Amino acid sequence: MAGRIPQNFIDDLISRTDIVEVVNSRVPLKRKGKEYTACCPFHNEKTPSFTVSENKQFYHCFGCGVHGNAIGFLMEFDHLDYIEAIETLAADQHLDIPREGSNASSQQQKNTQPLYAAMQQASELFQQQLTQSTHAVDYLEQRGLCGEIAKKYRIGYAPDKWDFIYQQLTTRTFTPAQLLETGLLTKNDRQKTYDRFRDRIMFPIADQRGRTIGFGGRVIDKGEPKYLNSPETPVFHKGRELYGLYEARQCLRNIDRLLVVEGYMDVVALSQHGIEYAVASLGTATTTEQIQKLFRTTHDVIFCYDGDNAGKKAAWRALENTLPLIRDGMVARFLFLPETEDPDTMIRQEGKTAFEQRISQAIPLSDFFFTHLKMNIDTKTSEGRAQLAQQAKPLLSKMHNSIYRDLLVQELSRLVGLTSEHLDARITPAQPLTPVTPPPVNRKQLVKNTKTRVAIALLLQNPALASLQPVPESFQSAITRGLPLLHHLYQTIQSNPSITSVALLERYRGHEHEQALTSLAIWSSPETENAETREQDFITIIKRLEREDRYEYLTHKEETDGLSKVEIREFLALSVK
Ligand code: CTP
Ligand code: MN
Repeated sequence: MAGRIPQNFIDDLISRTDIVEVVNSRVPLKRKGKEYTACCPFHNEKTPSFTVSENKQFYHCFGCGVHGNAIGFLMEFDHLDYIEAIETLAADQHLDIPREGSNASSQQQKNTQPLYAAMQQASELFQQQLTQSTHAVDYLEQRGLCGEIAKKYRIGYAPDKWDFIYQQLTTRTFTPAQLLETGLLTKNDRQKTYDRFRDRIMFPIADQRGRTIGFGGRVIDKGEPKYLNSPETPVFHKGRELYGLYEARQCLRNIDRLLVVEGYMDVVALSQHGIEYAVASLGTATTTEQIQKLFRTTHDVIFCYDGDNAGKKAAWRALENTLPLIRDGMVARFLFLPETEDPDTMIRQEGKTAFEQRISQAIPLSDFFFTHLKMNIDTKTSEGRAQLAQQAKPLLSKMHNSIYRDLLVQELSRLVGLTSEHLDARITPAQPLTPVTPPPVNRKQLVKNTKTRVAIALLLQNPALASLQPVPESFQSAITRGLPLLHHLYQTIQSNPSITSVALLERYRGHEHEQALTSLAIWSSPETENAETREQDFITIIKRLEREDRYEYLTHKEETDGLSKVEIREFLALSVK
């Protein structure tokens, strides 16, 4: 288990992040005055009520009430958990995530540096070796690749030796244990360590930052297995990466669409012929994480598979993984090639124009959805139609509410002969149970004061106010509702004086007052909006709250325990103020 992510790293990450960029790359925004707007991605609407505030670093929908910061947006929109959202923002900022906690985990964290370095050096060695092997160069030439493309994809060659990497990299300070961890070396039953990749064309797999994290190695001509891949390592997780994505990002300014193919050679051959937007899932079915990555990069994804049964199966898996992620404005299409072809052979035969013609004729997800479901069903019989509805139901219920989903439900209703309302009622997932009402609090003890809301909003939206006017210690156990929270906020700022508003709020994720604080962070009142009087307002309000809370306390004490002489004098003085 990795240790916790230090809080100050999260503060810093949030301060560096611009929510407008984060949202805009997923939901195209339009500028409108001080804010940005779009149709809300979380509910169905035709006129935009979703706004993103650059100032407050918050999004908020006046239609359905969703709101939050960049982390919250990623969690909702990309379906990430908290850590994944942090990882995504950190990757955007090119930051490594530090971890605190146990020695073992910080040790593990430190140890990935040599792994990246070893992979990088191995990649360079393989590229060097390629220039020295006529056998390997001839093979690439025979497959129609030029030197420039080999360079672009950093293609290399692992020589036919058992100890090439072992020798080269152990003399450069890497230990055999580290090299085993990278997967560049492997061990046999008798514990002998040797090079995993021998006499193979090497395709380095890059992460988002361009670091080599794994390799795919192809035999030259015939041999088994045809492709050998790096194993899962601390830096390489096959299901998360897309081969060619880094290269596509490097050479295209805007990625209008991505073509998902099956093989390394397909990506490279397509690029050789001028199609720079192909990526490959690494020899596995396209995973949810990969599809998320695709849609984060572009809103138009074309899945390209062979026309055989295996290809259809792979396409269906991709469709199943796409349904829960798709939003209005995103397009997923499927392109099936003639049975014995793959993109590599196809593009070499027909060239860019004809191939792009095929792409433009790729079938929409909805077509593939129904064609596939109807394949073995006779929709002329009522049993068949029931079966169709039955099979479509679990798939549709995984989808977000969207026009896209409505269209699929409509089409299904047409096919099975039920109204869409009728069908929809059966498909809509059960509403989550209403939360249990919290136990009643002793309301007598808790006095309301509307100025607390203003004070909290002011401090939360302008943490620098804490240095102007201290929040009294007595608020910690105040009788007025909200004052302990105000004090807690104040303390948090005191120990992190440069914290930004949005980072401050982030600290209350999962806190019992998270909801209340979130609303206050975007709340506007005359006091929060007027920058000139803000400071004076805050000072005045804190002082008044202090007096009023004391007055409430004394009132309460008079009713219960009675007041001392000193207290009576104080009480009277307060009453006339
Ligand atoms: N693959 C793999 N392991 C294998 C076979 C295939 O990981 N033993 C993955 C590789 O990523 C490969 C992709 O599946 O690129 C497609 O495999 P295949 O269709 O067999 O190969 P091609 O890409 O057509 O390779 P080539 O054109 O070089 O024969
Ligand atoms: Mn092929």
